[in-house]
Amino acid sequence: MKKRILAYGRLNDEQLAQLGQDVEVQTFPGLASADDPAFRAALPHAHGLIGAGLAITPELLDAAPRLEAIATISVGYDNYPVEALTRRGILLCNTPDVLTETTADTGFLLIMAAARRALELADLVKRGDWNAGIGPEHFGSDVHGKTLGLIGFGRIGAAVARRGALGFGMRVLYSNASPKPELERELGAERREMDRLLAESDFVCVTVPLTPETEHLIGEREFALMKPSAIFVNIARGKVVNEAALIEALEMGRIRAAGLDVFEQEPLSPESPLPHMTNVVALPHIGSATHETRTAMAQRAVDNLILALKGERPIDLVNDVALRGG
Ligand code: DGY
Repeated sequence: MKKRILAYGRLNDEQLAQLGQDVEVQTFPGLASADDPAFRAALPHAHGLIGAGLAITPELLDAAPRLEAIATISVGYDNYPVEALTRRGILLCNTPDVLTETTADTGFLLIMAAARRALELADLVKRGDWNAGIGPEHFGSDVHGKTLGLIGFGRIGAAVARRGALGFGMRVLYSNASPKPELERELGAERREMDRLLAESDFVCVTVPLTPETEHLIGEREFALMKPSAIFVNIARGKVVNEAALIEALEMGRIRAAGLDVFEQEPLSPESPLPHMTNVVALPHIGSATHETRTAMAQRAVDNLILALKGERPIDLVNDVALRGG
């Protein structure tokens, strides 16, 4: 008998057909909550899950005693209780690599848009207020030749740095748990303690994963260390930043601007002042959201899940221990 999987992420017809060759697929298009009654009813029979954006809790795992593997269509896995999964021998697979360049593009989009005040000035044109030549009150700041500080220097951080160093002649600083000598050679990047990086950078871009150690890594103290002309960009996770401190830093002019793809609460509350601030570019978590990349991510998740349910090593395994049955 075929194993059964629950698909709550966006998969195209070919991907569903590919899964269907090996497993029985039950789809939950547009599933918004794990409390959905049909999803709940299907959990006890599920061997695999594939999707994104759903918070998986240990309590949900209790309702899914047959579960062997989860393939998330995301690189981040902060929505998953990794220890609880590992204890139960459930494999967790993510989708690194395929989204690196697209997410770095989003980082650079935010750097450029915030530096050159692109949205604010596009709005001015849209309102019909472009009446004369643009003067200093609307000037932005240069990106090329400036100092770009990366907090986190994994795949995505390095891809943002590559754009900065090779495309825009930027000096690259990074703060990361381990040194990256190859990237230092390739990009002339220099490793710094985070406090020094914050003080020296014109652009500070956060790319660390969300973990208990990185939650609220950037707060009032860190914004106070940045230059008043600094532009802050977050393409990682909203909770890495104390959002109240960010709002205050922007309001008080402690930093010049911010480009944000992620927020402490998503979707962003309509009460949030952030999207209404002229010095903020706020996007609805679109880091990897292109047709090409989202298709590639879904494909990678499909491949991972099929391998995992066949008892083979998936391409991307988050919790190695489970594979060894530990
Ligand atoms: C991820 O894959 O974790 C991204 O945040 C989704 O765009």
